[in-house]
Amino acid sequence: MSGEYRQAYDRSMTDPDGFWREAAALIDWYTEPETIMDASALPFSRWFAGGELNTCHNALDRHVDAGRGDQVALIHDSPVTDSQQRFTYAELRDLVARFAGVLRSVGVGKGDRVIIYMPMVPEAAVAMLACARLGAVHSVVFGGFAARELAVRIDDATPSAIVSASCGIEGRRIVEYKPLLDRAIELAEHDPGRSIVLQRPQYEAPMTDRDLDWAEAMAAAEPTECVPVAATDPLYVLYTSGTTGKPKGVQRDNGGHAVALRWSLPAIYDVGPGEVMFTASDVGWVVGHSYIVYAPLLTGATTVLYEGKPIGTPDAGAFWRVIQDHRVKALFTAPTAFRGIKKEDPDAVLLRDYDISSLQTLFLAGERLDPETWMWASEKLGVPVVDHWWQTETGWPIAANLRGLEPMELKAGSPSVPCPGYQVDVLDVDGTELPRGEEGAIVIKLPMPPGCLQTLWEDDERFRESYMSRYEGYYLTGDGGYVDDDGYVFVMGRTDDVINVAGHRLSTGSMEEVLAGHPDVAECAVIGVHDAMKGQVPRGFVVLKSGVTRGEDEIAPELVALVRNEVGAVASFKNVAVVPALPKTRSGKVLRKTMRQIADGQDAMVPSTIDDATVLDTLRPVLQKGPQAGG
Ligand code: COA
Ligand code: AMP
Repeated sequence: MSGEYRQAYDRSMTDPDGFWREAAALIDWYTEPETIMDASALPFSRWFAGGELNTCHNALDRHVDAGRGDQVALIHDSPVTDSQQRFTYAELRDLVARFAGVLRSVGVGKGDRVIIYMPMVPEAAVAMLACARLGAVHSVVFGGFAARELAVRIDDATPSAIVSASCGIEGRRIVEYKPLLDRAIELAEHDPGRSIVLQRPQYEAPMTDRDLDWAEAMAAAEPTECVPVAATDPLYVLYTSGTTGKPKGVQRDNGGHAVALRWSLPAIYDVGPGEVMFTASDVGWVVGHSYIVYAPLLTGATTVLYEGKPIGTPDAGAFWRVIQDHRVKALFTAPTAFRGIKKEDPDAVLLRDYDISSLQTLFLAGERLDPETWMWASEKLGVPVVDHWWQTETGWPIAANLRGLEPMELKAGSPSVPCPGYQVDVLDVDGTELPRGEEGAIVIKLPMPPGCLQTLWEDDERFRESYMSRYEGYYLTGDGGYVDDDGYVFVMGRTDDVINVAGHRLSTGSMEEVLAGHPDVAECAVIGVHDAMKGQVPRGFVVLKSGVTRGEDEIAPELVALVRNEVGAVASFKNVAVVPALPKTRSGKVLRKTMRQIADGQDAMVPSTIDDATVLDTLRPVLQKGPQAGG
């Protein structure tokens, strides 16, 4: 170890202004910031106040102006449509400038919100960057969410326009997005203005008066210049799952975000200008925002936007082919993708057909990386496999092995060490700092570094209450774990009702709300249980209203269909059991954690405050038996 990590980390703690001022020099400013870190109103902090910039300028125009317009900025690789498209920085800049003109023509201006509900097409990135160009605030909604979830986000973000597509493609299945969009607009109370719809050849959607055709609008549009915004103005709002059914609108600024992401790409991922990064996620998640779109483009690298799965279309060699075709240096995905590949091709026979010699590192995040998957990937790929840990709220890694700064020892089960700017502590229930090796709530001491959430969209109170009120002076990550003697962080899992299904963060609360809406259901609980491929999957338990005579075989499929229609296919909600009662404490709280422990075959902690132990005894065999039929 050369000590570069320690030096950088210590400096970020003792001299945050100096550390981040230097990082900010990698960004073009119209007006230099007056202050670097303003922590005078904690738990709210402001970065680079007084500074003015434009994120789209930094992601595109800046590289063109510097003479790199002919370099490839974005590669759309789409095995599901059997196509590949390359866009240079100059081409992407022109498209984005034109689309910004389209948005302006429908009345979108600085500070207005725009919802983007799209599959993995290059136009999704174009729409995001066009918003940034205008100083508008984008809110990308993952395509796997159904109409009701989209409607909730429309009502919260109150957009001035929506950008969507006629369809997405899941394997060989065409998912018609436009009818979902129309339904969401019907369900929402807020009128979202015009929708700009990309018609794809796989499905031509019927258009209404509200809709503008993407291609026609682009043909008529005037290119638009970048609008300077304050560093502290919001760049985007990204909804993520909390413990209740209502998603949280994580708000991120322009300045802190640009600086942190630009710093992170070479330091953590060891990717610099002209190098190729392949992040296999979706633009609807934070991983897609940060490492498909913003960080690679802010850095002047080449990003691969991949429309497909790691397996199935055509086979478990899909990623190897992408690495070979585009000379990918760093691959970033979720562990579940590798569990999927391992399941289909346990000996990685398909790897022999490809030249993946360009690959230097595999990065995994989004869920716990089990040591078995880590070992398998390390052995088969022959490159370092780097687990790293972060969240929608932080926008970039909290803990990682910083491959560009100083590669350090990798330890199974650990996302390595805290990144500069993050003071990670582990606290006991009463707020006492726990000694090394002891498990508790993982927290981050305030202020958080640049790039982290500013607040929740139009809900400062929920921001305080969700993250900042549990332990004063700390941000609550919602994850539990410990730090070992070498300072390595071990993240063991969520301490709340958020679950992680195939790397997708979901709320059991939103599924419970849907189940509770079924006319025969009196009460219900949804828990996340272990799944060999997806890490976790949800399991539902419902108690029927008295007098209901229909049985589980009839009601369970209805409930499965209801969650799929209202939350979305991505919930992977396939198992629900009808039970006589739910175990509760005397104060009426359902013992979800105890249920989860029994279902996962762990030693269950049954609280002394249990109301009626016989209820749990009756439920035990159902939990232990595993999933019930229903989907
Ligand atoms: N639009 C519409 N439907 C979508 C969707 C989208 N963008 N994304 C997923 N879905 C659907 C899927 O088609 C599937 O439907 P089904 O129940 O009819 O089969 C369902 O939602 C569940 O999707 P998923 O959890 O992705 O499971 P899968 O079986 O299709 O694929 C993996 C499993 C492991 C291959 C897949 O989850 C994967 O590649 N994960 C990579 C990790 C990742 O992207 N993580 C994001 C954060 S880093
Ligand atoms: P998201 O906000 O969708 O990125 O999900 C964030 C959550 O995913 C975290 O709070 C963790 O629970 C989980 N997570 C992400 N990365 C890791 C990791 N490397 N190890 C363990 N859990 C992780």
